Amino acid sequence: EFEGVSYPSFMPFRKKEAKNVIEDIMNVKSRDSDIIICTYAKSGTHWTYEIVNMLLRNTTELDNKSKMQSMLEAVEDLSVLEGVPSPRIMDTHCLFKYLPKQHKQKKVKIVHMIRNPKDVCVSYYYHCLKDVMINFDGTWEEFFELFMSGKLPYGSWYNYELEMERAANDFPETIFTCYYEDMKKDPIREIKKLADFLGTPCSDDTLEKIAKETSFGNMQKNKFDITVIVDGKGFIYRKGEIGDWKNHFTVAQNEKFDAQYKEEMKDSKYQITFE
Ligand code: A3P
Repeated sequence: EFEGVSYPSFMPFRKKEAKNVIEDIMNVKSRDSDIIICTYAKSGTHWTYEIVNMLLRNTTELDNKSKMQSMLEAVEDLSVLEGVPSPRIMDTHCLFKYLPKQHKQKKVKIVHMIRNPKDVCVSYYYHCLKDVMINFDGTWEEFFELFMSGKLPYGSWYNYELEMERAANDFPETIFTCYYEDMKKDPIREIKKLADFLGTPCSDDTLEKIAKETSFGNMQKNKFDITVIVDGKGFIYRKGEIGDWKNHFTVAQNEKFDAQYKEEMKDSKYQITFE
């Protein structure tokens, strides 16, 4: 735990306190060309990574590296990043305030994907049941309450997303927010917006190919990530849908969630859709 937030027991945490891991992240030496993907857990990080990687590397093939090699809080020794050729793509679920200190001076671009929190909650529930680094063995009802009180690894969804929104207001040229639901409904349009932001324009044909290669079905079939294998099966590519929360939330849970969402998000300009 660090500053009231708990973290999964990724490798470095077995040897280091969360505080030291975060300090190491804040001291990463940034490059102008770095891209950091910032997401609350289960908001489409792997998906965003593939799209950004294709745009930056001018390819339409899925990356075969483990994403754990780019996740700042999971890399055991962050000095290995110094040997990674530019442009480097990193990702993290840590709060904006813990990003490398140099990123502001260097104008590092941040791609932030946000997903409706009801689906995040359901997705996170299944992740925590399967992830041996988290080892959750409670019920859906218990998990729902933990999400509502922000007591999960990486803390409160509201805290994370409202901090990102403030940061995006402060640094509009360097922070780009995309919505999971928009990407799902119209990937070509959204990938084009992302390409404009990254300064990697591409043809309609390429946009179409990227959308196809990064579709849920294709990634579920072809993306192999050794780090998330449990019982012989990966669990990142579960359903990839909008609105799975309706299969899990009771009417009472939904009302409770809506009331909290309305209060917490009253000053937010995010346009999040739930179906
Ligand atoms: P579900 O559990 O709802 O299926 P992250 O990468 O941040 O851990 O997010 C994982 C969630 O994103 C999972 O949601 C996963 O299925 C979904 N996802 C991964 N790739 C996707 C894609 N290409 N299209 C849509 N959703 C995708």
